[in-house]
Amino acid sequence: MNINGTHYHTIWVKENDPKTIEIIDQRLLPFEFKIVELKTIEDTFIAIKEMLVRGAPLIGVTAAYGMYLGMLSLKNSDDLNRKIKDLGKHLESSRPTAVNLKYAIDLVIDKTKSLNTAQEKIDIAFETANQLKADEIENCRLIGENGFPLIEKISKAKKGETVNILTHCNAGWLACVDYGTATAPIYAAHEKGVKIHVWVDETRPRNQGARLTAFELDQQGIPHTIIADNTGGLLMQKGMVDMVIVGSDRTSSNGDVANKIGTYLKALAAHDNNIPFYVALPLSTIDFEMNDGVNEIPIEQRDQDEVRFIEGWANDQIMKVRLVPENSKAVNYGFDVTPAKYVTALITEKGVCRTNKTEIEKLKQ
Ligand code: MRU
Repeated sequence: MNINGTHYHTIWVKENDPKTIEIIDQRLLPFEFKIVELKTIEDTFIAIKEMLVRGAPLIGVTAAYGMYLGMLSLKNSDDLNRKIKDLGKHLESSRPTAVNLKYAIDLVIDKTKSLNTAQEKIDIAFETANQLKADEIENCRLIGENGFPLIEKISKAKKGETVNILTHCNAGWLACVDYGTATAPIYAAHEKGVKIHVWVDETRPRNQGARLTAFELDQQGIPHTIIADNTGGLLMQKGMVDMVIVGSDRTSSNGDVANKIGTYLKALAAHDNNIPFYVALPLSTIDFEMNDGVNEIPIEQRDQDEVRFIEGWANDQIMKVRLVPENSKAVNYGFDVTPAKYVTALITEKGVCRTNKTEIEKLKQ
């Protein structure tokens, strides 16, 4: 997608330097645009943990490149496969909720395990990371294609009047490599001339909605309005929301959906107001081995200061200010899990599917 008219992906191999991976430091958006180089697996670990990159599909692709960077320093030895597994274990501990992280690490381990020399493994790890990146771009494009008819149907029912879509957090191209998950059908609708407007939940505490989704939509020229996180319920009661589309960080095989904290409350409000609640995600975000997302998905807890302080732009720089009494503590759960019964359907690269085990299993075919 575009930033000031230039097309970017969120991650790429540096030109003429295949040992360096470049990313956009998303902690600085929308105020500053900075490209950061990753040269080691430790650079990758920090980029994921400190959220220079974030969003489930992008975390996965970054981890695949991280495994490749880690392998660059391996010398030929008997226990190469054990060393690669150790790299994977370390990288997997950077963030717990997005299953794409494990998916990507396992993919690289699997593709390289039967090869003998370090160089052969490095070559295949690089190829695997590049392929995963290309696949996730195509997956998001297809999510857009498959989700578009859902928006079109509402537009037709409203006789071409604006379709109001509410989204939470950033499940846009910045969370992926291109297109986004929740935003892909939105971009497709905009491109095809369907009138849309997006309600953007600010998404405290890190404000990925206000900072990243709003930035993306603004850059693509899509009408949108930022709302405080508590506003969605009122808008739904007043008939000002036609549908909700969010992303996911991990969806279990029974259709329970982990997504950014606050998603569950939006699903409850949508259910109470008979508003369709869709979750857009690639298959790499489905944990087919997990049967009970509500009880089993690990929920990341982050530093309390992300709640106690807020960042913004003042005096030509990013500033951080304290919001709360100096001695008050805060707690910072990163995600919640929406039970399958509140999710109207999943929008995937394979099509739109109901949230039950039989339908979800069929996606694998
Ligand atoms: O903590 P983040 O910014 O990595 O969380 C990302 C999300 O929760 C997004 O909402 C998203 O839906 C998942 S990635 C497409």
